[in-house]
Amino acid sequence: MATPDAEHRTGARVSARIGGISESATLAVDTKAKALRAAGRPVIGFGAGEPDFPTPQPVVDAAIAACSDPRNHRYSPAAGLPELREAIAAKTRRDSGVVVQPGQVLVTNGGKQAVYQAFQTLLDPGDEVLLPAPYWTTYPEAITLPGGVPVVVPADESTGYLVSVDQLEAARTPRTKVLLFNSPSNPTGAVYPPEQVEAIGRWAVEHGIWVITDEIYEHLVYGDARHVSMLTAVPELADTCVVLNGVAKTYAMTGWRVGWMIGPADVIKAATNLQSHLSSNVANVSQRAALEAVSGPLDAVHEMRAAFDRRRRKMVELLSAIPGVSCPVPQGAFYAYPSVKELLGKEIRGARPRTSVELAALALEHAEVAVVPGEAFGTPGYFRLSYALGDEDLVTGVTRLAELLGEAR
Ligand SMILES: Cc1ncc(COP(=O)(O)O)c(C=O)c1O
Repeated sequence: MATPDAEHRTGARVSARIGGISESATLAVDTKAKALRAAGRPVIGFGAGEPDFPTPQPVVDAAIAACSDPRNHRYSPAAGLPELREAIAAKTRRDSGVVVQPGQVLVTNGGKQAVYQAFQTLLDPGDEVLLPAPYWTTYPEAITLPGGVPVVVPADESTGYLVSVDQLEAARTPRTKVLLFNSPSNPTGAVYPPEQVEAIGRWAVEHGIWVITDEIYEHLVYGDARHVSMLTAVPELADTCVVLNGVAKTYAMTGWRVGWMIGPADVIKAATNLQSHLSSNVANVSQRAALEAVSGPLDAVHEMRAAFDRRRRKMVELLSAIPGVSCPVPQGAFYAYPSVKELLGKEIRGARPRTSVELAALALEHAEVAVVPGEAFGTPGYFRLSYALGDEDLVTGVTRLAELLGEAR
């Protein structure tokens, strides 16, 4: 135990900066669901943010071969293996039509590190970041850590969770430096139509605002929806745009931890300096696996997309049939984001949940179904349900949820 004197000398045990970071709510739900399952409860988890498919075999084979190659047993350049940076530049040209040089690519330990480093590299204390909500739970933490100020721009189901240029303009101040843009979106599954991407990008150019565009779900779009990269829509943004991406969602490679950031050479150089002191190179075996993935075909993601599309329709059908639940049809990623606002304050099994956190806890307790409450995404009154789980579990889980919520009086 520290004596009062020692406490006086050293201040708080954990710094205010780090002490202020909350646990990732999505990971927490997933962990809790897994723990209950391990204890024998038949919990169905809708919390996971990862495909339930195996990594494609050629990618696994490339990693196995890489393990035996002594070249991969040593440190490699912090910015990434030169051949992987080249392959990512080529993949970007192939998928988005955007020409970038390998020197504009920084390979990171998952897309998450790319998010973190992008904000660390661009923000000074007091810089404001326009953050459309519902937002992915990691963004506000990554913005706040370097002293940035998230300025939330809320959207709801009435606009399909899309924000307009007018809303962004109303939130702009002289301190606005960055717009965070994420389409297809986690948590809503919303996909901005190409003309709206262009309008937002043009507005950013006009006002000298940087765009950090998180395109990690680029290949997971359904029906008529089309993903357009921000840089494809507005090439004039090239000098003030950072693109975030990775192999996790496209190739079912969440555990391999390979992502990247693409941006102007000076920003990438600065971010590489940061990474060289923070984590150095991403594991070489994972980089070799990612090289195989991004250089290869997109067959695996097309197969996953067909399955996700089928599950998406089923989930929306089942959720929409629950009185008090309204669920816009998600057009991308693998999440549904229904509003449960009408159910709050009603009686269910002797309880009267007043928030989506309380309602989600009730669902876990009585329906043995794990969902992430909207509080985690800056919008209380909603649930996020991932449909990256087996068809049968999906139907069983949503049916259980429907039975429970159907009791609301
Ligand atoms: C919107 C978004 N961006 C980035 C990531 C980061 O993915 P990873 O760090 O697994 O590459 C995720 C993961 O859930 C995400 O949903």
